[in-house]
Amino acid sequence: MVPTRLWSRLFVAFAFLVQPAVTAVAGETTLTVVDAKGEAHAFSIDRLLAHPDTDTSTITGDPAYGGTSRQYRVIPLTRLLAGLPVAGADVLMATALDGFVAQLPAAKALNADPAGAVAYLAIEDPAAPWPKLKGKDLSAGPYYVVWRNPQLVGIGPEAWPYQTVRLELKESVAKRYPAILVADNLPADAPARRGGALFVDNCFACHKMNGGGEATVGPDLNLPMNPTEYFQPSVLPRYLRDPSSVRHWADQKMPAVAADVLSDRDLEAIIAYLAHLAGRR
Ligand code: HEC
Repeated sequence: MVPTRLWSRLFVAFAFLVQPAVTAVAGETTLTVVDAKGEAHAFSIDRLLAHPDTDTSTITGDPAYGGTSRQYRVIPLTRLLAGLPVAGADVLMATALDGFVAQLPAAKALNADPAGAVAYLAIEDPAAPWPKLKGKDLSAGPYYVVWRNPQLVGIGPEAWPYQTVRLELKESVAKRYPAILVADNLPADAPARRGGALFVDNCFACHKMNGGGEATVGPDLNLPMNPTEYFQPSVLPRYLRDPSSVRHWADQKMPAVAADVLSDRDLEAIIAYLAHLAGRR
């Protein structure tokens, strides 16, 4: 009999060899959709391109390509999910190849009324590849969640996840990650309470908080330390507005938050939320 330890070594060696084929890598073109009952459905790029509801459409204010207007092959998210169980879900969670995980409010992402904000999945046709993103070696594909009329419901740039490969219908962020919540007894009008909601929409796609969340792009902003504990109070808002005014390095991924996305007052509320969470480890 082969000793167990040898088996486990062989297994590790084998797992290492097959890893590139099983992990999500750039060039992966299957979209996984997990319905509200937790069942996964795989959509190939060919099936999505040939879907009767897929159409060519011009998308304006495209944040992945510098706010330009671009033509895409798109399918409305409501049509993509047609026939799948969606009831009971509060959030459509979009996971990207780079560890960005957007928590899109399901009511907004699944709105079908063309007079409102409508979300689509843009599909990169391998026969007509999209341009590379600025400073990156990859495009926004294989799938990119884009919006029409996003301003009607306060949808900001972090709700346009590019390089998306997985969409999941989920319960609310509050139910899944209680560690990120503010104290129950905090007044309803406390800035930290509003800041927490702004944090989920604008920061949580990249940062875990107090151990809660799925994102792996940036650091947890409470563990082991919270930025309000080591940034000078005057520097933190400046860092959020323009990280490169505080530090320079090659792989600067933390985005500069524009004033038309979050006002100074919004940034103050987010910082109040960070400071509040420092007392809730
Ligand atoms: C697109 C991903 C992304 C988003 C969105 C994002 N961040 Fe970051 N953030 C990062 C990354 C990555 C870093 C680590 C430094 C780097 O590589 O730029 C970082 C660094 C930071 C730091 C500095 C931590 C340190 O110790 O140096 C703070 C503070 C911060 N982010 C706060 C925020 C807040 C608040 C928001 C929302 C308004 C936010 N971030 C949105 C990716 C993001």
